[in-house]
Amino acid sequence: MTPVRVLAVASEVYPLVKTGGLADVVGALPAALKQYGVTTRTLVPGYPDVLKALATAETLLHWPEFYGGPIRVLGGTHDGLDLFALDAPHLYARPGNPYVGPDGRDWPDNGIRFAALSRMAAEIGQGAITSFVPDIVHAHDWQAGLAPALLHYAGQPRPGTVMTVHNLAYQGQFSPDMLTAFGLPGESYALHGVEYFGGISFLKAGLRFADRITTVSPTYAKEIQSDEGGMGLGGLLRERSGVLSGILNGIDISVWNPATDPDIAARFSAEQPAERAANKAALQRRFGLDPAPDAMLLGVISRLSWQKGLDLLLEVIPTILREGMQLALLGSGDRDLQDRYAALARDNPGRIAVVIGYDEALAHLIQAGSDALVVPSRFEPCGLTQLCALRYGAVPIVSRVGGLADTVLDFDEVAITGDAPTGVKFAPVTSDALAHGLRKANLLFNDKVTWRRLQQAGMATDVSWHNRAGRYAALYRELATTRR
Ligand code: ADP
Ligand code: GLC
Repeated sequence: MTPVRVLAVASEVYPLVKTGGLADVVGALPAALKQYGVTTRTLVPGYPDVLKALATAETLLHWPEFYGGPIRVLGGTHDGLDLFALDAPHLYARPGNPYVGPDGRDWPDNGIRFAALSRMAAEIGQGAITSFVPDIVHAHDWQAGLAPALLHYAGQPRPGTVMTVHNLAYQGQFSPDMLTAFGLPGESYALHGVEYFGGISFLKAGLRFADRITTVSPTYAKEIQSDEGGMGLGGLLRERSGVLSGILNGIDISVWNPATDPDIAARFSAEQPAERAANKAALQRRFGLDPAPDAMLLGVISRLSWQKGLDLLLEVIPTILREGMQLALLGSGDRDLQDRYAALARDNPGRIAVVIGYDEALAHLIQAGSDALVVPSRFEPCGLTQLCALRYGAVPIVSRVGGLADTVLDFDEVAITGDAPTGVKFAPVTSDALAHGLRKANLLFNDKVTWRRLQQAGMATDVSWHNRAGRYAALYRELATTRR
Protein backbone atom coordinates (compact mmCIF):
# COMPACT_ATOMS: atom_id res chain seq x y z
CA MET A 1 0.00 0.00 0.00
CA THR A 2 1.68 3.23 -1.13
CA PRO A 3 1.41 5.82 1.62
CA VAL A 4 -0.58 8.93 0.69
CA ARG A 5 -0.25 12.33 2.34
CA VAL A 6 -3.32 14.53 2.38
CA LEU A 7 -3.66 18.15 3.37
CA ALA A 8 -7.31 18.65 4.39
CA VAL A 9 -8.48 22.26 4.45
CA ALA A 10 -11.57 23.39 6.32
CA SER A 11 -13.01 26.23 8.34
CA GLU A 12 -14.30 23.98 11.15
CA VAL A 13 -13.04 20.95 13.00
CA TYR A 14 -14.66 19.07 15.88
CA PRO A 15 -14.08 19.44 18.82
CA LEU A 16 -12.42 22.86 18.43
CA VAL A 17 -14.79 24.84 16.19
CA LYS A 18 -18.19 23.57 15.07
CA THR A 19 -21.34 25.03 13.61
CA GLY A 20 -22.54 21.84 11.94
CA GLY A 21 -21.75 18.47 10.43
CA LEU A 22 -18.75 19.76 8.45
CA ALA A 23 -16.77 19.94 11.70
CA ASP A 24 -17.76 16.39 12.66
CA VAL A 25 -16.62 15.04 9.30
CA VAL A 26 -13.33 16.93 9.22
CA GLY A 27 -12.65 15.89 12.82
CA ALA A 28 -13.37 12.19 12.39
CA LEU A 29 -12.20 11.24 8.90
CA PRO A 30 -8.39 11.46 9.47
CA ALA A 31 -8.36 8.77 12.18
CA ALA A 32 -10.40 6.43 9.99
CA LEU A 33 -8.05 7.04 7.03
CA LYS A 34 -4.97 5.93 8.98
CA GLN A 35 -5.75 2.24 8.58
CA TYR A 36 -5.72 2.75 4.80
CA GLY A 37 -2.21 4.19 4.82
CA VAL A 38 -3.39 7.79 4.45
CA THR A 39 -1.72 10.45 6.61
CA THR A 40 -3.73 13.63 7.03
CA ARG A 41 -2.82 17.08 8.26
CA THR A 42 -5.75 19.44 8.61
CA LEU A 43 -5.28 23.15 7.95
CA VAL A 44 -7.71 25.35 9.88
CA PRO A 45 -7.89 29.06 10.68
CA GLY A 46 -6.20 30.03 13.93
CA TYR A 47 -9.37 31.00 15.78
CA PRO A 48 -8.89 31.65 19.53
CA ASP A 49 -10.03 28.14 20.53
CA VAL A 50 -7.70 26.55 18.00
CA LEU A 51 -4.69 28.53 19.21
CA LYS A 52 -5.52 27.71 22.82
CA ALA A 53 -5.54 24.00 21.98
CA LEU A 54 -2.22 24.32 20.15
CA ALA A 55 -0.48 26.37 22.84
CA THR A 56 2.64 24.22 22.77
CA ALA A 57 2.70 23.76 18.98
CA GLU A 58 5.73 24.37 16.82
CA THR A 59 5.97 27.40 14.51
CA LEU A 60 6.53 26.06 11.01
CA LEU A 61 6.25 29.28 8.99
CA HIS A 62 6.52 32.91 9.93
CA TRP A 63 5.75 35.50 7.24
CA PRO A 64 5.67 39.26 7.88
CA GLU A 65 2.88 39.95 5.41
CA PHE A 66 0.03 37.73 4.22
CA TYR A 67 -3.36 39.16 3.23
CA GLY A 68 -2.92 42.27 5.33
CA GLY A 69 -0.82 41.28 8.32
CA PRO A 70 1.86 39.00 9.73
CA ILE A 71 1.10 35.29 10.05
CA ARG A 72 2.49 32.07 11.43
CA VAL A 73 1.62 28.48 10.64
CA LEU A 74 1.62 26.27 13.72
CA GLY A 75 1.84 22.51 13.61
CA GLY A 76 0.54 20.43 16.50
CA THR A 77 -1.69 17.64 17.69
CA HIS A 78 -5.00 17.82 19.49
CA ASP A 79 -7.14 14.85 20.46
CA GLY A 80 -5.29 12.65 17.98
CA LEU A 81 -5.74 15.15 15.12
CA ASP A 82 -2.67 16.49 13.34
CA LEU A 83 -3.36 20.16 12.72
CA PHE A 84 -1.83 23.09 10.93
CA ALA A 85 -3.26 26.36 12.22
CA LEU A 86 -3.00 29.56 10.22
CA ASP A 87 -2.35 32.06 13.00
CA ALA A 88 -3.36 35.38 11.44
CA PRO A 89 -4.60 37.66 14.24
CA HIS A 90 -5.88 40.29 11.78
CA LEU A 91 -8.20 37.66 10.25
CA TYR A 92 -9.15 35.16 12.92
CA ALA A 93 -8.56 36.57 16.43
CA ARG A 94 -12.30 36.93 16.98
CA PRO A 95 -14.24 34.91 19.55
CA GLY A 96 -17.54 33.16 18.90
CA ASN A 97 -19.04 31.97 15.63
CA PRO A 98 -16.42 31.54 12.89
CA TYR A 99 -18.43 33.38 10.22
CA VAL A 100 -20.58 36.03 11.86
CA GLY A 101 -19.84 38.90 14.19
CA PRO A 102 -21.72 39.98 17.33
CA ASP A 103 -24.32 41.79 15.19
CA GLY A 104 -25.31 38.47 13.63
CA ARG A 105 -24.00 39.43 10.20
CA ASP A 106 -21.20 37.83 8.18
CA TRP A 107 -17.84 39.44 8.88
CA PRO A 108 -17.33 41.94 6.04
CA ASP A 109 -13.88 40.52 5.30
CA ASN A 110 -14.96 36.86 5.04
CA GLY A 111 -13.73 36.78 1.43
CA ILE A 112 -10.21 37.75 2.47
CA ARG A 113 -10.31 35.50 5.54
CA PHE A 114 -11.01 32.40 3.49
CA ALA A 115 -8.95 33.42 0.46
CA ALA A 116 -6.03 33.49 2.91
CA LEU A 117 -6.91 30.00 4.19
CA SER A 118 -7.13 28.67 0.63
CA ARG A 119 -3.88 30.38 -0.38
CA MET A 120 -2.03 28.86 2.55
CA ALA A 121 -3.34 25.45 1.49
CA ALA A 122 -1.96 26.08 -2.00
CA GLU A 123 1.40 27.19 -0.55
CA ILE A 124 1.66 24.05 1.59
CA GLY A 125 0.58 22.06 -1.46
CA GLN A 126 3.58 23.46 -3.29
CA GLY A 127 6.03 22.60 -0.58
CA ALA A 128 6.09 25.60 1.79
CA ILE A 129 6.40 23.22 4.75
CA THR A 130 9.22 20.88 3.85
CA SER A 131 8.36 18.31 6.53
CA PHE A 132 4.92 17.75 4.96
CA VAL A 133 4.53 18.00 1.22
CA PRO A 134 1.11 16.54 0.40
CA ASP A 135 0.17 14.31 -2.54
CA ILE A 136 -3.38 15.62 -2.32
CA VAL A 137 -5.00 18.87 -1.21
CA HIS A 138 -8.57 18.14 -0.08
CA ALA A 139 -10.76 21.27 0.13
CA HIS A 140 -13.98 21.15 2.15
CA ASP A 141 -16.80 23.56 1.25
CA TRP A 142 -16.56 27.09 -0.13
CA GLN A 143 -14.18 28.40 2.52
CA ALA A 144 -11.46 26.20 1.00
CA GLY A 145 -12.76 26.47 -2.56
CA LEU A 146 -10.08 28.79 -3.90
CA ALA A 147 -7.33 26.27 -3.11
CA PRO A 148 -7.81 24.11 -6.24
CA ALA A 149 -8.08 27.27 -8.39
CA LEU A 150 -4.94 28.86 -6.93
CA LEU A 151 -3.04 25.60 -7.46
CA HIS A 152 -4.30 25.42 -11.02
CA TYR A 153 -3.12 28.94 -11.83
CA ALA A 154 0.20 28.41 -10.03
CA GLY A 155 1.01 25.75 -12.65
CA GLN A 156 2.94 22.47 -12.38
CA PRO A 157 4.09 20.68 -10.38
CA ARG A 158 1.20 20.56 -8.01
CA PRO A 159 -0.57 17.98 -5.86
CA GLY A 160 -3.87 16.42 -6.86
CA THR A 161 -6.94 18.30 -5.68
CA VAL A 162 -10.28 17.14 -4.31
CA MET A 163 -13.25 19.40 -3.62
CA THR A 164 -15.94 18.10 -1.27
CA VAL A 165 -19.35 19.75 -1.24
CA HIS A 166 -21.00 19.48 2.18
CA ASN A 167 -23.70 21.95 1.26
CA LEU A 168 -24.24 23.53 -2.16
CA ALA A 169 -26.39 26.27 -0.66
CA TYR A 170 -23.33 28.06 0.71
CA GLN A 171 -21.29 29.24 -2.26
CA GLY A 172 -19.03 32.04 -0.98
CA GLN A 173 -19.94 34.86 -3.38
CA PHE A 174 -18.02 38.14 -3.43
CA SER A 175 -17.61 41.26 -5.49
CA PRO A 176 -15.49 41.04 -8.67
CA ASP A 177 -13.44 44.01 -7.38
CA MET A 178 -11.84 41.62 -4.90
CA LEU A 179 -10.14 39.47 -7.57
CA THR A 180 -6.62 40.82 -7.04
CA ALA A 181 -7.01 41.10 -3.29
CA PHE A 182 -7.94 37.40 -3.22
CA GLY A 183 -4.72 36.61 -5.08
CA LEU A 184 -6.44 35.46 -8.28
CA PRO A 185 -5.01 36.31 -11.72
CA GLY A 186 -7.01 38.53 -14.09
CA GLU A 187 -7.54 35.68 -16.54
CA SER A 188 -9.45 33.72 -13.85
CA TYR A 189 -12.37 36.14 -14.06
CA ALA A 190 -14.15 34.22 -16.83
CA LEU A 191 -17.03 31.83 -17.31
CA HIS A 192 -14.52 28.97 -17.33
CA GLY A 193 -12.88 30.38 -14.22
CA VAL A 194 -14.17 31.80 -10.96
CA GLU A 195 -16.74 34.21 -12.41
CA TYR A 196 -20.29 33.52 -11.27
CA PHE A 197 -23.27 35.73 -12.16
CA GLY A 198 -21.15 38.85 -12.21
CA GLY A 199 -19.21 38.06 -9.04
CA ILE A 200 -16.64 35.62 -7.73
CA SER A 201 -17.74 32.29 -6.27
CA PHE A 202 -15.30 30.35 -4.12
CA LEU A 203 -17.33 27.16 -4.44
CA LYS A 204 -17.51 27.45 -8.20
CA ALA A 205 -13.74 27.96 -8.24
CA GLY A 206 -13.27 24.69 -6.40
CA LEU A 207 -15.77 22.80 -8.55
CA ARG A 208 -14.25 24.12 -11.74
CA PHE A 209 -10.61 23.34 -10.97
CA ALA A 210 -10.49 20.37 -8.58
CA ASP A 211 -9.30 17.12 -10.15
CA ARG A 212 -12.07 15.24 -8.34
CA ILE A 213 -15.34 16.42 -6.81
CA THR A 214 -17.11 14.54 -4.08
CA THR A 215 -20.23 15.14 -2.09
CA VAL A 216 -21.51 13.42 1.01
CA SER A 217 -24.10 10.98 -0.34
CA PRO A 218 -24.83 9.27 -3.66
CA THR A 219 -28.36 10.69 -3.86
CA TYR A 220 -27.15 14.26 -3.26
CA ALA A 221 -24.51 13.69 -5.96
CA LYS A 222 -27.41 13.11 -8.38
CA GLU A 223 -29.63 15.88 -7.01
CA ILE A 224 -26.97 18.58 -7.44
CA GLN A 225 -26.70 17.81 -11.13
CA SER A 226 -30.30 18.90 -11.67
CA ASP A 227 -31.33 22.48 -12.33
CA GLU A 228 -33.26 22.73 -9.07
CA GLY A 229 -30.83 20.89 -6.79
CA GLY A 230 -27.84 22.45 -8.55
CA MET A 231 -28.60 25.88 -7.09
CA GLY A 232 -27.01 27.63 -10.06
CA LEU A 233 -24.12 25.19 -10.37
CA GLY A 234 -26.03 22.25 -11.88
CA GLY A 235 -24.69 22.88 -15.38
CA LEU A 236 -21.08 22.90 -14.22
CA LEU A 237 -21.66 19.78 -12.14
CA ARG A 238 -23.24 17.96 -15.09
CA GLU A 239 -20.28 18.93 -17.21
CA ARG A 240 -17.95 17.49 -14.58
CA SER A 241 -20.05 14.41 -13.76
CA GLY A 242 -17.20 12.14 -14.88
CA VAL A 243 -15.12 13.19 -11.85
CA LEU A 244 -18.02 13.62 -9.40
CA SER A 245 -18.97 10.97 -6.84
CA GLY A 246 -20.98 10.66 -3.64
CA ILE A 247 -19.38 9.13 -0.55
CA LEU A 248 -21.57 8.77 2.52
CA ASN A 249 -20.48 10.31 5.80
CA GLY A 250 -19.97 8.23 8.87
CA ILE A 251 -19.96 9.31 12.50
CA ASP A 252 -17.31 8.95 15.18
CA ILE A 253 -18.60 5.86 16.96
CA SER A 254 -16.39 6.50 19.98
CA VAL A 255 -17.97 9.94 20.54
CA TRP A 256 -21.40 8.50 19.76
CA ASN A 257 -21.45 5.31 21.79
CA PRO A 258 -24.46 4.66 24.03
CA ALA A 259 -22.49 2.05 25.98
CA THR A 260 -19.93 4.59 27.22
CA ASP A 261 -21.58 8.02 26.69
CA PRO A 262 -20.89 10.26 29.70
CA ASP A 263 -23.66 12.72 28.72
CA ILE A 264 -26.63 10.38 29.04
CA ALA A 265 -28.59 9.27 32.11
CA ALA A 266 -28.11 5.52 31.71
CA ARG A 267 -25.85 3.61 29.34
CA PHE A 268 -27.25 0.94 27.06
CA SER A 269 -26.47 -1.14 23.99
CA ALA A 270 -28.22 -3.15 21.30
CA GLU A 271 -27.92 -6.20 23.55
CA GLN A 272 -29.22 -4.33 26.61
CA PRO A 273 -31.68 -1.72 25.35
CA ALA A 274 -33.87 -1.63 28.49
CA GLU A 275 -31.97 1.33 29.94
CA ARG A 276 -33.29 3.54 27.15
CA ALA A 277 -36.38 3.94 29.34
CA ALA A 278 -34.31 5.71 32.03
CA ASN A 279 -32.99 8.10 29.38
CA LYS A 280 -36.50 8.81 28.16
CA ALA A 281 -37.60 9.64 31.71
CA ALA A 282 -34.52 11.85 32.17
CA LEU A 283 -35.19 13.63 28.89
CA GLN A 284 -38.83 14.26 29.85
CA ARG A 285 -37.67 15.65 33.21
CA ARG A 286 -34.95 17.81 31.62
CA PHE A 287 -37.45 19.29 29.14
CA GLY A 288 -40.34 19.56 31.60
CA LEU A 289 -42.48 17.12 29.63
CA ASP A 290 -45.13 14.97 31.26
CA PRO A 291 -43.58 11.76 32.64
CA ALA A 292 -45.41 9.53 30.18
CA PRO A 293 -43.50 6.34 29.32
CA ASP A 294 -46.10 5.28 26.75
CA ALA A 295 -46.35 8.51 24.78
CA MET A 296 -44.16 8.50 21.71
CA LEU A 297 -41.44 11.09 22.32
CA LEU A 298 -40.17 12.81 19.17
CA GLY A 299 -36.71 14.42 19.26
CA VAL A 300 -35.25 17.12 17.01
CA ILE A 301 -31.64 18.36 17.04
CA SER A 302 -31.08 20.88 14.31
CA ARG A 303 -30.03 24.19 12.92
CA LEU A 304 -33.27 26.12 12.46
CA SER A 305 -33.12 27.00 8.77
CA TRP A 306 -35.24 26.63 5.66
CA GLN A 307 -33.11 23.66 4.60
CA LYS A 308 -34.15 21.65 7.64
CA GLY A 309 -37.91 21.90 6.96
CA LEU A 310 -38.78 22.69 10.57
CA ASP A 311 -41.49 25.11 9.48
CA LEU A 312 -43.27 21.99 8.18
CA LEU A 313 -43.04 20.41 11.61
CA LEU A 314 -44.72 23.50 13.06
CA GLU A 315 -47.63 22.93 10.69
CA VAL A 316 -48.19 19.37 11.91
CA ILE A 317 -48.23 20.15 15.63
CA PRO A 318 -52.02 19.47 15.71
CA THR A 319 -51.29 15.94 14.46
CA ILE A 320 -48.59 15.47 17.10
CA LEU A 321 -51.00 16.56 19.84
CA ARG A 322 -53.93 14.57 18.51
CA GLU A 323 -51.84 11.41 18.30
CA GLY A 324 -50.74 11.82 21.92
CA MET A 325 -47.09 12.29 21.03
CA GLN A 326 -44.55 14.59 22.73
CA LEU A 327 -41.87 16.75 21.14
CA ALA A 328 -38.45 17.76 22.52
CA LEU A 329 -36.60 20.15 20.22
CA LEU A 330 -33.06 21.50 20.55
CA GLY A 331 -32.07 24.04 17.95
CA SER A 332 -30.91 27.48 17.04
CA GLY A 333 -30.88 29.63 13.95
CA ASP A 334 -33.62 31.69 12.27
CA ARG A 335 -35.12 34.16 14.71
CA ASP A 336 -38.61 33.62 13.38
CA LEU A 337 -38.49 29.85 13.84
CA GLN A 338 -36.93 30.21 17.30
CA ASP A 339 -39.77 32.51 18.35
CA ARG A 340 -42.49 30.31 16.89
CA TYR A 341 -41.15 27.20 18.62
CA ALA A 342 -40.74 29.02 21.92
CA ALA A 343 -44.35 30.24 21.72
CA LEU A 344 -45.59 26.76 20.89
CA ALA A 345 -43.86 25.32 23.95
CA ARG A 346 -45.45 28.01 26.14
CA ASP A 347 -48.89 27.11 24.78
CA ASN A 348 -48.48 23.35 25.21
CA PRO A 349 -46.71 22.70 28.51
CA GLY A 350 -45.90 19.08 29.19
CA ARG A 351 -46.40 18.13 25.55
CA ILE A 352 -44.07 20.30 23.49
CA ALA A 353 -40.75 21.49 24.90
CA VAL A 354 -38.05 23.52 23.26
CA VAL A 355 -34.48 24.47 24.13
CA ILE A 356 -33.17 27.24 21.93
CA GLY A 357 -29.40 27.06 21.82
CA TYR A 358 -26.48 24.86 20.99
CA ASP A 359 -25.75 22.13 23.51
CA GLU A 360 -23.62 19.15 22.56
CA ALA A 361 -24.33 17.17 25.77
CA LEU A 362 -28.08 17.69 25.50
CA ALA A 363 -27.95 16.43 21.89
CA HIS A 364 -26.63 13.14 23.27
CA LEU A 365 -29.46 12.86 25.82
CA ILE A 366 -32.06 13.50 23.10
CA GLN A 367 -30.59 10.72 20.96
CA ALA A 368 -30.62 8.37 23.94
CA GLY A 369 -34.06 9.25 25.27
CA SER A 370 -36.35 10.01 22.36
CA ASP A 371 -38.32 7.25 20.68
CA ALA A 372 -37.93 8.76 17.23
CA LEU A 373 -35.79 11.51 15.72
CA VAL A 374 -37.51 13.70 13.13
CA VAL A 375 -35.51 15.14 10.20
CA PRO A 376 -37.91 16.74 7.69
CA SER A 377 -35.23 18.43 5.52
CA ARG A 378 -36.06 19.99 2.16
CA PHE A 379 -32.59 18.97 1.05
CA GLU A 380 -29.91 17.17 3.02
CA PRO A 381 -26.45 16.53 1.58
CA CYS A 382 -25.93 13.71 4.07
CA GLY A 383 -27.19 14.50 7.56
CA LEU A 384 -25.49 13.14 10.64
CA THR A 385 -28.21 13.29 13.28
CA GLN A 386 -30.13 10.40 11.71
CA LEU A 387 -26.92 8.33 11.81
CA CYS A 388 -26.50 9.05 15.53
CA ALA A 389 -30.19 8.23 15.99
CA LEU A 390 -29.75 4.82 14.34
CA ARG A 391 -26.86 4.06 16.68
CA TYR A 392 -28.83 5.17 19.75
CA GLY A 393 -32.06 3.33 18.96
CA ALA A 394 -34.08 6.48 18.20
CA VAL A 395 -36.00 5.51 15.07
CA PRO A 396 -35.43 8.12 12.34
CA ILE A 397 -38.45 9.69 10.63
CA VAL A 398 -36.95 11.47 7.60
CA SER A 399 -37.81 13.04 4.29
CA ARG A 400 -36.72 11.03 1.26
CA VAL A 401 -33.96 13.38 0.08
CA GLY A 402 -30.17 13.33 -0.20
CA GLY A 403 -28.31 11.37 2.43
CA LEU A 404 -31.51 10.77 4.40
CA ALA A 405 -32.78 8.69 1.48
CA ASP A 406 -29.49 6.75 1.43
CA THR A 407 -29.12 5.97 5.13
CA VAL A 408 -32.60 5.06 6.39
CA LEU A 409 -34.56 2.02 5.17
CA ASP A 410 -38.36 2.19 5.15
CA PHE A 411 -40.73 -0.79 5.16
CA ASP A 412 -41.85 0.02 1.62
CA GLU A 413 -38.35 -0.34 0.21
CA VAL A 414 -37.27 -3.47 2.00
CA ALA A 415 -40.24 -5.36 0.60
CA ILE A 416 -38.11 -5.53 -2.55
CA THR A 417 -34.61 -5.92 -1.12
CA GLY A 418 -35.37 -8.10 1.88
CA ASP A 419 -33.30 -5.87 4.23
CA ALA A 420 -34.54 -5.02 7.71
CA PRO A 421 -36.26 -1.62 7.87
CA THR A 422 -34.69 0.99 10.16
CA GLY A 423 -37.05 3.96 10.01
CA VAL A 424 -39.85 5.87 8.32
CA LYS A 425 -39.41 7.97 5.19
CA PHE A 426 -41.90 10.40 3.74
CA ALA A 427 -42.17 12.15 0.38
CA PRO A 428 -42.76 14.67 -1.05
CA VAL A 429 -41.41 17.17 1.50
CA THR A 430 -44.76 18.65 2.52
CA SER A 431 -46.56 18.97 5.83
CA ASP A 432 -49.20 16.49 4.66
CA ALA A 433 -46.62 13.83 3.87
CA LEU A 434 -44.83 14.54 7.15
CA ALA A 435 -48.09 14.20 9.10
CA HIS A 436 -48.71 10.89 7.34
CA GLY A 437 -45.18 9.73 8.26
CA LEU A 438 -45.73 10.65 11.90
CA ARG A 439 -49.04 8.79 12.06
CA LYS A 440 -47.43 5.76 10.48
CA ALA A 441 -44.57 5.91 12.99
CA ASN A 442 -47.04 6.11 15.89
CA LEU A 443 -48.84 3.01 14.65
CA LEU A 444 -45.53 1.16 14.50
CA PHE A 445 -44.60 2.48 17.95
CA ASN A 446 -47.75 1.03 19.42
CA ASP A 447 -46.80 -2.40 18.10
CA LYS A 448 -43.98 -3.08 20.57
CA VAL A 449 -42.51 -6.06 18.75
CA THR A 450 -42.24 -4.23 15.42
CA TRP A 451 -40.82 -1.14 17.07
CA ARG A 452 -38.19 -3.17 18.92
CA ARG A 453 -37.24 -4.74 15.60
CA LEU A 454 -36.85 -1.31 13.96
CA GLN A 455 -34.64 -0.16 16.82
CA GLN A 456 -32.53 -3.30 16.73
CA ALA A 457 -32.01 -3.06 12.97
CA GLY A 458 -31.01 0.60 13.32
CA MET A 459 -28.57 -0.15 16.10
CA ALA A 460 -27.05 -2.94 14.00
CA THR A 461 -26.49 -0.60 11.04
CA ASP A 462 -22.87 0.30 10.32
CA VAL A 463 -22.73 4.09 10.62
CA SER A 464 -18.99 4.22 11.32
CA TRP A 465 -16.34 5.79 9.11
CA HIS A 466 -14.54 2.48 8.66
CA ASN A 467 -15.70 1.46 5.19
CA ARG A 468 -16.61 4.95 4.04
CA ALA A 469 -13.10 6.24 4.71
CA GLY A 470 -11.91 3.45 2.43
CA ARG A 471 -13.71 5.16 -0.45
CA TYR A 472 -11.80 8.39 0.15
CA ALA A 473 -8.56 6.44 0.47
CA ALA A 474 -9.18 4.75 -2.89
CA LEU A 475 -9.98 8.09 -4.51
CA TYR A 476 -6.83 9.73 -3.11
CA ARG A 477 -4.66 6.81 -4.15
CA GLU A 478 -6.05 6.70 -7.67
CA LEU A 479 -5.51 10.43 -8.06
CA ALA A 480 -2.03 10.38 -6.51
CA THR A 481 -1.03 7.55 -8.84
CA THR A 482 -2.24 9.28 -11.99
CA ARG A 483 -0.35 12.43 -11.02
CA ARG A 484 2.95 10.78 -10.02
P1 ADP B 1 -25.83 20.34 9.28
O1 ADP B 1 -24.36 20.20 9.18
O2 ADP B 1 -26.51 20.65 8.01
O3 ADP B 1 -26.25 21.27 10.38
P2 ADP B 1 -25.75 17.54 10.12
O4 ADP B 1 -26.85 16.62 10.50
O5 ADP B 1 -24.79 17.05 9.13
O6 ADP B 1 -26.43 18.91 9.69
O7 ADP B 1 -24.86 17.87 11.39
C1 ADP B 1 -25.32 18.60 12.47
C2 ADP B 1 -24.40 18.37 13.65
O8 ADP B 1 -24.58 19.43 14.57
C3 ADP B 1 -24.71 17.10 14.41
O9 ADP B 1 -23.52 16.66 15.04
C4 ADP B 1 -25.74 17.58 15.45
O10 ADP B 1 -25.79 16.77 16.57
C5 ADP B 1 -25.21 18.95 15.76
N1 ADP B 1 -26.20 19.94 16.17
C6 ADP B 1 -27.06 20.64 15.38
N2 ADP B 1 -27.78 21.52 16.10
C7 ADP B 1 -27.38 21.37 17.37
C8 ADP B 1 -27.72 22.02 18.60
N3 ADP B 1 -28.65 22.97 18.65
N4 ADP B 1 -27.08 21.62 19.72
C9 ADP B 1 -26.15 20.65 19.67
N5 ADP B 1 -25.77 20.01 18.56
C10 ADP B 1 -26.37 20.38 17.43
C1 GLC C 1 -23.57 19.95 5.71
C2 GLC C 1 -24.89 19.33 5.34
C3 GLC C 1 -25.15 18.01 6.06
C4 GLC C 1 -23.92 17.14 6.09
C5 GLC C 1 -22.76 17.92 6.68
C6 GLC C 1 -21.47 17.10 6.74
O1 GLC C 1 -23.65 20.80 6.80
O2 GLC C 1 -25.97 20.21 5.53
O3 GLC C 1 -26.19 17.31 5.39
O4 GLC C 1 -24.15 15.99 6.87
O5 GLC C 1 -22.50 19.05 5.89
O6 GLC C 1 -21.10 16.61 5.47
